[in-house]
Amino acid sequence: MLTQLVHTQNLNNSEILALLRRANALLCQETAPLNLRAKNIVALFFENSTRTIASFQSAAARLQAHFSVFNVQKSSTSKGESLLDTLHNIEAMGVDLIIARHHHSSSAPYFAKHLKCAFINAGSGTLSHPTQALLDLLTLYNHFKGALEGKRIAIVGDIKNSRVANSNMELLPRFGMQVILVAPPHFLPPTSLPTTHSLQEALQEVDVVMGLRTQTERHSLQTYGSLKDYAKDFCLRRAMLGDRQIPLLHPGPVHRNIDIEDALLDDPRCLVLEQVKLGVFLRMALMEGLLTS
Ligand code: NCD
Repeated sequence: MLTQLVHTQNLNNSEILALLRRANALLCQETAPLNLRAKNIVALFFENSTRTIASFQSAAARLQAHFSVFNVQKSSTSKGESLLDTLHNIEAMGVDLIIARHHHSSSAPYFAKHLKCAFINAGSGTLSHPTQALLDLLTLYNHFKGALEGKRIAIVGDIKNSRVANSNMELLPRFGMQVILVAPPHFLPPTSLPTTHSLQEALQEVDVVMGLRTQTERHSLQTYGSLKDYAKDFCLRRAMLGDRQIPLLHPGPVHRNIDIEDALLDDPRCLVLEQVKLGVFLRMALMEGLLTS
């Protein structure tokens, strides 16, 4: 059984479906969560986080596990200690699970390779964010009552720099979803998936839309005039959806009126907070699996 989640490819489709079912059972309180009181979890975040770290913390609390957040900013990494030494020292204190986020895309496989304890990638550079993609899948699975086959999803925004997009582009097609990438040319990665620069056109064709944040901290060269210019063409607006029942996802943090306009964030079709809610149960199910295998 899996003990390290580096990317979505670590889980096959039947393992993922079992995870979604378990998350839903926990959500509906059909069964009690496992009691992981004896387990020691450490979060090691080298990059900022609001939702992901709080979600893991909330999930761990519901499993009664001990959860601590290692203060990277105040650690000896600033005194020249190597990443690997920091990691090994934390592990030596008797940790059962390390949850890590780092700005380098290759950080997660590196951490997993050097750790003996269980490991979850909570976001590595621009490459992967498996638990976000899994909670997005759970949100879609529940919304469409399991009927994902043939559903078309537009992923809109800074796709090239988004680990959320990358993980979803791997995961969603495995469950029969058709992904269309919508972005200006400089935000599109090399891909075999269909792409368009026209948000209006894409919205006519899809069943669901996922907005993304413009990852300004990852741009070495600003290739667009301003975020306002970008928003003119790519901000998701309520008027664009008309009365179509198209659900809207976004991993957060949302740049209001750049990624999505205020009015659409308040619209019942917006599932952003549903994603956040479901994320806790998805992470509970995942931690149960990793810590009892
Ligand atoms: C994302 C991340 O950090 O990758 N947020 C999240 O985890 N929910 C998306 C982002 O930062 O844009």
